[in-house]
Amino acid sequence: MKRCLIEVNNLWTKFGDHVVHRDVSLAIDRAEVLSLVGGSGSGKTTLLRQMMGLETPSAGEVKVFGVSLQHNDPEEIRRIRNRWGVLFQQGALFSALTVYDNIALPLRELGTVDEGLIRELVLLKLEMVGIEAAHAAKMPSDLSGGMVKRVALARALALEPELLFLDEPTAGLDPDRSESFVQLIEDLRRELELTVVMVTHDLDTLISLSSRVAVLCDQRIVAIGSLAEVVKSSHRFITNFFQGERGKRALQALSEALVK
Ligand SMILES: Nc1ncnc2c1ncn2[C@@H]1O[C@H](COP(=O)(O)OP(=O)(O)O)[C@@H](O)[C@H]1O
Ligand SMILES: [Mg+2]
Repeated sequence: MKRCLIEVNNLWTKFGDHVVHRDVSLAIDRAEVLSLVGGSGSGKTTLLRQMMGLETPSAGEVKVFGVSLQHNDPEEIRRIRNRWGVLFQQGALFSALTVYDNIALPLRELGTVDEGLIRELVLLKLEMVGIEAAHAAKMPSDLSGGMVKRVALARALALEPELLFLDEPTAGLDPDRSESFVQLIEDLRRELELTVVMVTHDLDTLISLSSRVAVLCDQRIVAIGSLAEVVKSSHRFITNFFQGERGKRALQALSEALVK
């Protein structure tokens, strides 16, 4: 089996004259959790969107599961799309659909799964994310922020993906909810052997989940490696990012965890 799940080769993204990615290359291996960090507007979300074929490179290529998103027919790309799940900050759930219908949607879109099996799968996914079946008939507006995230994660897992894209998964959650959501992601990642590509600026999330960290700055990846490697960089963004009180505390916790 090929280890490399995602290859970004010499990627350029431009919106008009605005260069967002300048010759970015990156490879993501099976079973790793790669976290993307960078300032606001540095192109993190756009890079995820490139990996999902939702943006068109101005130059360069993105391959996922060995399939070029630029040089293949739509049918082939549609097939590989079903092998990844997405949890984005915006539009996590369809507000007009119940919890049940939100999770059932990707399965119904396949057009090949009967309603009996869909029901079983939806209930299974709800259980996986720790939501009681009694909530299935609720509308998203009746749920707390933490529950919306869990249901959105259940939907992202509906097609049993091998790969999960997360954009700021813990944004907007209070520290307790954030911690338990991170734990849930970690448990599911292990259980399902998922590869995860995640954008986060939350240090606790970053430290708890990442196997590698890539730092986007000035249109490029300025550092990539384990967190311990990346923090050694003297790049101004990285020193700023880890300089604050929280950053120092988080790194302290990390080094204690490493010596254990
Ligand atoms: N569809 C688009 N059209 C024009 N500019 C865009 C578009 N999408 C993103 N951008 C710009 O690209 C830059 C990177 O955006 P984004 O990837 O969302 O940043 P981040 O997620 O790191 O905050 C921003 O300056 C944003 O305004
Ligand atoms: Mg973003």
